[in-house]
Amino acid sequence: MEELELETKRRRTFAIISHPDAGKTTLTEKLLLYGGAIRLAGSVKSRKAQKHAVSDWMEIEKQRGISVTSSVLQFDYDGHRVNILDTPGHQDFSEDTYRTLMAADSAVMLIDVAKGVEEQTKKLFHVCRQRKIPVFTFVNKLDRFGKNPFELMEEIEQVLGIRAYPMNWPVGIHGNYVGVYNRQEAQVELFERDGSHGQSVLPSTMGNVSDPAFRETLGSDIHEALCEDIELLDMAGDAFDLEQVKSGELTPMFFGSAMTNFGVRPFLEEFLKLAPPPAPRLSNEGEINPTQEEFSAFVFKIQANMNPAHRDRLAFIRICSGKFTRGMSVYHVQSGKNIKLAQPQQFLAQERTIIDEAYPGDIIGLFDAGVFGIGDTLCQENMKFSFQDFPAFPPEQFARVQPKDTMKRKQFVKGMTQLTQEGAVQVFRQRDSAVEAFIIGVVGALQFEVLEYRLKNEYGVDLIMDRLSFSVARWLVGEESAIKSMKGIDSGMIIHDIKDRPVLLLSNEWAIRWVSERNPDVEFLEIPENSQGI
Ligand code: G4P
Repeated sequence: MEELELETKRRRTFAIISHPDAGKTTLTEKLLLYGGAIRLAGSVKSRKAQKHAVSDWMEIEKQRGISVTSSVLQFDYDGHRVNILDTPGHQDFSEDTYRTLMAADSAVMLIDVAKGVEEQTKKLFHVCRQRKIPVFTFVNKLDRFGKNPFELMEEIEQVLGIRAYPMNWPVGIHGNYVGVYNRQEAQVELFERDGSHGQSVLPSTMGNVSDPAFRETLGSDIHEALCEDIELLDMAGDAFDLEQVKSGELTPMFFGSAMTNFGVRPFLEEFLKLAPPPAPRLSNEGEINPTQEEFSAFVFKIQANMNPAHRDRLAFIRICSGKFTRGMSVYHVQSGKNIKLAQPQQFLAQERTIIDEAYPGDIIGLFDAGVFGIGDTLCQENMKFSFQDFPAFPPEQFARVQPKDTMKRKQFVKGMTQLTQEGAVQVFRQRDSAVEAFIIGVVGALQFEVLEYRLKNEYGVDLIMDRLSFSVARWLVGEESAIKSMKGIDSGMIIHDIKDRPVLLLSNEWAIRWVSERNPDVEFLEIPENSQGI
């Protein structure tokens, strides 16, 4: 097989989706531990703390204990090259997390055994479903008392509308499990307790479920209960169908504890076998196959001022096809320019290394002089296609912002432009108002704090921010005269987006319905025309 094909096939690029506190940081760390990328677990967490000392660029992160920046972690396991996309895991979800999912080929849905399917997991799951990427489920914190595994299977099906196929099953007494049963191989794996809270790889013993030695170790009650569960699963459960997994109709389900390492290795190994390598991506000229010789990639994230000492701006790109080599020249479709990719960066959390080559599925960071925008396409010079538009998210919270000090207007506009390009906020203008202010729209309220903090720290601008009581936006389409003479909008506000399209803000869906019934000549769109929605 050719190098490009081999390299593409062994790539697994995925993101972990979960509600905060389900254990994403812990699981990521354990995957790195098993992947040999770190020697003792605990270092990702300490890096979490260290990061502030190193870059200190986002006080909010420290204050709220959240990870706002995201990067990619790479390691090799069993011949696979694994790329874990780190999605920010804060309570208020933001568009950033969604965009990261655009760069993933599959997702691992992490569920806390005691809490089941939580709010943020639901939202992120729907993005995966829309993209039709396979979702793998890892039920975490099995060292604790939680919901019954059958109950969880049912919850996943009812709440998310996806059927779950347990690849393994917890062995032991509820709340005090000692191992997992591998259904495919009818093997039991019992984990030792080393009391180290999972700092090191956990020793285990494996054997056939019908082996009398296991029956003895487990005790006949536990053994019998396990056999009953297995029988029930085999009889009443779904059959395993890899095609359904690939199309996102069936989720392979695993059980374990990221903290004690219980079940981590069986999950990792099975996941890498089943998860898909980079798939073809849709462009305006049809599907782009990852193994085609010509290079292509898209920008899924832009992050400026990661290091205040350097004031650099990085564009993160996901390679979709062809081989990347340092110094190569590519065509940037949106600006119509050829760009030399001289200093590509790869990240292991905050440590940067310069890379010489990369393949489909890999993520690299490029220094960006302000040329790139989110969703932009890079491709070989002789090809001029663009990947499908990124989905647009209707903003749900709004605020009017202006600089406290009017002398700082220039920096204010510069900062706002930068943050709009990063996709951190959506910016609108209010015409005919006495003070020229920006109206910003966001999906999660944390984005307001981020905006305030970054304008102050990176541009020296203190903001006056007035939150508005609106919670829905509709893009208005129709004759200008029809829009100007709209009826019943006294409680709302008309603003214009950066492309000067009119947008109506109102307080709730009910008000939107009321207004739209009174203005049949105007169309009310949740997202701007020609974009896909979530
Ligand atoms: P997140 O990134 O999804 O927000 O979660 P994170 O890994 O930070 O884990 C949240 C809390 O859950 C942590 O406890 C972590 O130790 C705990 N946790 C993760 N996996 C397991 C597990 O398998 N079993 C149990 N019992 N707990 C688990 P914390 O008290 O907030 O932090 P720490 O003091 O333990 O670091």
